[in-house]
Amino acid sequence: MKPQWQPSAESCTVRAYAKINLTLDVLGRRSDGYHMLATVMQTINLHDTLCLTTTEDTQVRLACTVPELNTPDNLVVRAVELIRRRAGVSRGILIELYKRIPTAAGLGGGSSDAAAVLLALPRLWNLAFSFDELLEMAASLGSDVPFFLYGGLALCEGRGEQVTPLPPFWPEQMRWLLLLKPPINIATATVFRSLSPRDYTNGAHSRAVCEALRMQRMPAPADLHNSLERGVLEYYPEVARARELLLAAGATLVRLSGSGPTLFAPFADLTMAWRLHRRMAEYGYEVYLAQAIYPSSS
Ligand code: C5P
Repeated sequence: MKPQWQPSAESCTVRAYAKINLTLDVLGRRSDGYHMLATVMQTINLHDTLCLTTTEDTQVRLACTVPELNTPDNLVVRAVELIRRRAGVSRGILIELYKRIPTAAGLGGGSSDAAAVLLALPRLWNLAFSFDELLEMAASLGSDVPFFLYGGLALCEGRGEQVTPLPPFWPEQMRWLLLLKPPINIATATVFRSLSPRDYTNGAHSRAVCEALRMQRMPAPADLHNSLERGVLEYYPEVARARELLLAAGATLVRLSGSGPTLFAPFADLTMAWRLHRRMAEYGYEVYLAQAIYPSSS
């Protein structure tokens, strides 16, 4: 059967990597409702795949493996519209989005997809945007989107959009990352709204982690702190239960990524990580084994 869109010769396929938050210090609330953050993020090799194909009409089409995400307010559609508006072009595009990163999970999947479009589409269409322009467009799409223009390891401040890339270093003790997504979805806004001032920190955890990584050392576990974790464990018993099961099965460190509900547990040893992966899968959990990745090395 003939497709309803006509492809032109121009097409590209790109990966959009997930992230974990090694730290997430919430420093306080801003007058615009956002929160001031200091967070250390790292991209990991769990990824979505986007295939962008220029079409002969002016439509923006999204074909996504998760039907609920096939909407005009999907961040990838908004990223395309933003690029077209800024460049004053009305070319058509089909975006095929193969989702593998769990959604609304604290792994930055939607933000990473949007950043992948901001990086790939100008190349495909030969549009000359400076990196600063891309950063500004990214920040207008979401607080985490600028980080994904860099990928790798970075300290993110402000509401998350001020990115300082850090020299690549990932401790041996965390070579394997077991990710566990409890069977609930949590809206980031809800988690931030339920913060109490006692969850605020002065950013010392993020500073200590940056310093340890700069010295090529494993950070102190107490500094792998997430200000959102207390509230999530308190309000979502499914997350607290999954955390208990991971600890009982032998994980020594379990942390929430971003606003959750995904938990991550680092391991030095693949055999141990895989044993827990199997155990948690037997309990019926959605689990992944991942590693830190630098997008340019993929
Ligand atoms: O920036 P983004 O749209 O991804 O943020 C989603 C929601 O998370 C915001 O509407 C806000 O409620 C909350 N948030 C926040 N402080 C931040 C980032 C996000 O309160 N620094």
